[in-house]
This record gives sequence, C-alpha cells and structure tokens, in this order.
Amino acid sequence: MQSLTIIRPDDWHLHLRDGAVLARTVADTAAQFGRAMIMPNLSPPVVNTNMAIDYKARLDAQNSSLTALMTLYLTDQTSAHEIQRAFDSGIVKAVKLYPAGATTNSAAGVTNIENTYAAIAKLEELGMPLLVHGEVTHSHIDIFDREKGFIDQQLGPLLQRFPKLKCVFEHITTSEAALFVADASDWVGATITPQHLLYNRNDLLVGGVKPHLYCLPVLKRNTHQQALQAAVSAGSHKFFLGTDSAPHAQGAKESACGCAGCYSSPAAIELYAQAFESFDALDKLEAFASLNGPDFYGLARNSETITLTRCDWQVPSSLTFGDDIIIPLGAGEILNWKIEA
Ligand code: NCD
Ligand code: ZN
Repeated sequence: MQSLTIIRPDDWHLHLRDGAVLARTVADTAAQFGRAMIMPNLSPPVVNTNMAIDYKARLDAQNSSLTALMTLYLTDQTSAHEIQRAFDSGIVKAVKLYPAGATTNSAAGVTNIENTYAAIAKLEELGMPLLVHGEVTHSHIDIFDREKGFIDQQLGPLLQRFPKLKCVFEHITTSEAALFVADASDWVGATITPQHLLYNRNDLLVGGVKPHLYCLPVLKRNTHQQALQAAVSAGSHKFFLGTDSAPHAQGAKESACGCAGCYSSPAAIELYAQAFESFDALDKLEAFASLNGPDFYGLARNSETITLTRCDWQVPSSLTFGDDIIIPLGAGEILNWKIEA
C-alpha cells in the first residue's frame, strides 16, 4: 500500500499549554487533527467554566482550523453546580481527574475521591465524561505498579458506585488497564498514546536514560506494550487516539529532575501509522484515530479526510518553542508515512 486516506482524526487527550508557545502547539495539532480535547493542567489549573471560556478564547485567537474541546480540572472543591454550569456552557466537554501529585501540575488535584462524589454524581446524571489519570500516588507503591493499583483501589469501586458514569481511562499503559476497559460497560473507553504503542521501558532506560521518552504514566515492560498493541489490533471501539502530547522545553527535560511528557504533536498521526504498521494493523488505524472517539463522545465524525503517503522522512531533531527549543517525540528518526499537506 502506497497511500492511505482516512477521515480526519481527532486528538482526545492534548496539552497545548498557554502564552507564547500556543503559536507552535496549536498549529502543529491543527495540521493533523480536526478537534482536540484540551487538558486543563495549566498553572493555575482550569477549575471553572469562566477559566475554560477564557482559555478557549486564547486558543481560538491562534486562528487555526483546530476545534478546541475544553475540560475542567476536578478538585476536592468542585461543586455539582459548577459541573452543571460547565455542561450548560456548551464548550466544556469533559472533566479531568488528576489524583493529587500524580503528574505535572497536579498538586491541586483530588486528595480523596470521596470528596468528589457530588460532582461525579452530576457528571453521571448529565452523561458528561470523566477523564481519568489512572495512577495511585502513595509513596510506597512502585511507579510501575501505580496504574494497576488505581484500577483495584479507585476506578473499579468508582464505577461500581456510578455504573452509568461515562469515563475515559486516559493514556493506558498496562495489560491490566486494557483488560479492564475491554471488560467494562460501553460507558467506559480509553485513550492510547503513540509512545506506549511504539516503546517500552527498555527504550527509556537501556544504554542511558532518554529524557524525551519520559512521560507519565511511565513506559512499562514490553509485555504491556504488546497488550496495548493487541488491544488496538482487535479493533474494539472502546480504544481511541489520545496523544497526551505534553510539551516541555528541552532544558526542562534534559535536567537532573526532568519533566514528564513527550511532544508528539508534530508527527502524531505518522507515529501512530508507523506503530500500527509494525504490528500489522494499519486497517484498524482509521477507526482508532477518527471514528471511535467521536462515537464515544456522541459527536459527529469529521467530514474531511487526510491522506498519508508512503515516503521516508526524518522527524526534525529540534523545533522552536516560544523563545526556547523543544525536542519532538521521534526526533531524528526516519518514519515511513507522511501526511499530505
Ligand atoms: C503531562 C504534562 O506534562 O502536562 N505529562 C505527561 O507525562 N503525560 C501530564 C499528564 O498527562 O500526566
Ligand atoms: Zn496528559
């Protein structure tokens, strides 16, 4: 196959940041995706509807073709009333749960899930999705076991309590998460990133630490990578594209205490195509990238298409990022599919 035309994909999990870097981040995503679910972990976080409206105005001021779907950052204080206001705004499409301390800018996240039951009951009533960063944060739990711990201790019980809650288990990284989602009701879906399909913890750690492959949840062992590949190869409608593209300047990554996050937006669909082809599932790419997400969210599929052409090209080794430099995911690597401009 030399060319592949698919419905324009959407990115159901994206960090665009704010300020001067938006010129880069919004344009890079708009070059590939129709819509994106915009994560709210700014500093300070987007905790209410007014902040989401203001943030969306700053994104829309970039005058790109991207449709920004906004999220609210759930805290111990989020009221059912605020959830209703967010829903009524029409621009906030989901609410994001970060366990406090789990990842970048999550200090204001949820300390005890019981504190959020009133807000979550309102989400369930409205059919508004809860997006979950699924990692426990207790210091005695090994970082490689934090996703499994979250399923057992938090997500399983939560979904028993709120069986009609629409819920996306974001950026899943383990066989346990893939199985949990496959076995769950149709109210539950999951996003999968390009890095968790392409790489495992050997890529991160063998032969020297690769800071640009460090993200959270951290890359797991190869058997988990294979389980994610099997999940998307099976073609279940529950799994869909969410890059978790999370830009940090080069200096913040190449540091004694490097930030978590991979900047995948500039080559996102090509990285997914590379991955899907490597496990012989290119025929499943369109549903994963362009159909399953809008179907889960109850939104129309995009009407445009994009075309990927077989051609070797090299991911740039670095890019400008405001006044800084950023190293994209796959920097310097040769990919064999390229989106037509
Ligand atoms: C994200 C970021 O930098 O905002 N980092 C990451 O490693 N994925 C936060 C997150 O989604 O966990
Ligand atoms: Zn994220």
